[in-house]
Amino acid sequence: MIIVNNIDEMHDLSNKWRQDGKSIGLVPTMGYLHEGHLSLINAARGENDIVVTSIFVNPSQFGPNEDFERYPRDMEADSAACELAGVDVIFAPDAQEMYPEGYTTYVEPGAIGQRLCGVTRPIHFRGVCTVVLKLFNIIQPLNAYFGQKDAQQYLILKRMVADLNLDINLHRMPIIREADGLAKSSRNVYLTPEQREQATMLFAAVKKAEQLYRAGERDSATILAAMSDELAKASLAKVDYLQIVETDNLLPVQHIDREVLVAMAVYFGSTRLIDNTILG
Ligand code: PAF
Repeated sequence: MIIVNNIDEMHDLSNKWRQDGKSIGLVPTMGYLHEGHLSLINAARGENDIVVTSIFVNPSQFGPNEDFERYPRDMEADSAACELAGVDVIFAPDAQEMYPEGYTTYVEPGAIGQRLCGVTRPIHFRGVCTVVLKLFNIIQPLNAYFGQKDAQQYLILKRMVADLNLDINLHRMPIIREADGLAKSSRNVYLTPEQREQATMLFAAVKKAEQLYRAGERDSATILAAMSDELAKASLAKVDYLQIVETDNLLPVQHIDREVLVAMAVYFGSTRLIDNTILG
C-alpha cells in the first residue's frame, strides 16, 4: 500500500492503471475510519482490481461554526486499517493541494441540497459535490462506494453523476451499527457517556417506523408522531428534523405509496447525529 499526497502523482497512477485495463474502486472518506468505512472498502476490494481510499477532511463542506477544526483525525490508525483491509493506495492531499490560491469553482446541487440536512448546513452539499467530483476526476474510478447513513449525500451524488454524465457506478452500502444500534460515525467520539447512552433513541425511532410500516401503517404523520415519542425519551436530544420524503426530490410525503426516505438529524449538545431508513 502506498500513500499519495500529490494530485499529479495520483493522476499518473490512475492513468496508468486505466491504460492497463484495470478497474479502480474508490472509497471517499474524511478518515478516522470505523467499521462503516471498512465495509465500503471490503465491497470495493471484492469488485475492483485496484482500491483507492481517499482521506481528506474537506473544508468546503463545513460551515463557519461547524467542527472542521476539531473533526477527529488519526492517519496512523487509518493507514494500518487500510493496509489490513487490502487498500492499494491512500490518497491524502492537504487543503492547499485541493483548493490552491485562486480556487473559485464549485458544484451546486440545487434545491435537494437545501432540504433536510441542507436547512442547517446550507453549503454542505455544495462542498461534498465539489470535492467528490474532484476526487472522481483525479482518481477516475469505475466504482465509488458510499454509506447509506449519509442518505441525502448519496442521493445528491447520484443526481450529480446523472446530471453531469459521469461514467461512474455509485454503490450504496448498508448502515453499520454499534451493538446497541447507534449508527457508526466518526462523530460519535464527541458524545459524553450520558449522551452516548441516549443516542440509541435514534435507532429506536428508526425501528419504530419500520415496525409500523410492516404492520400496514401508511400515514406519514402517524409514523412521525410515534418516532417523536421515541426520541422524546432522550432528554438530552434536540431534534433538528424528522421527515418522511420522496427519495428523488426529498420533498415530504403524506401518504406512503412509493419508496420513501425516513430521515432525522438530532443534536446532543453541539454534536449532530443522523440516521435513516428506506420504506417501500
Ligand atoms: O461522507 C463523507 O465522509 C464525506 O462527505 C465525503 C463523501 C468523503 C466527501 O468529503
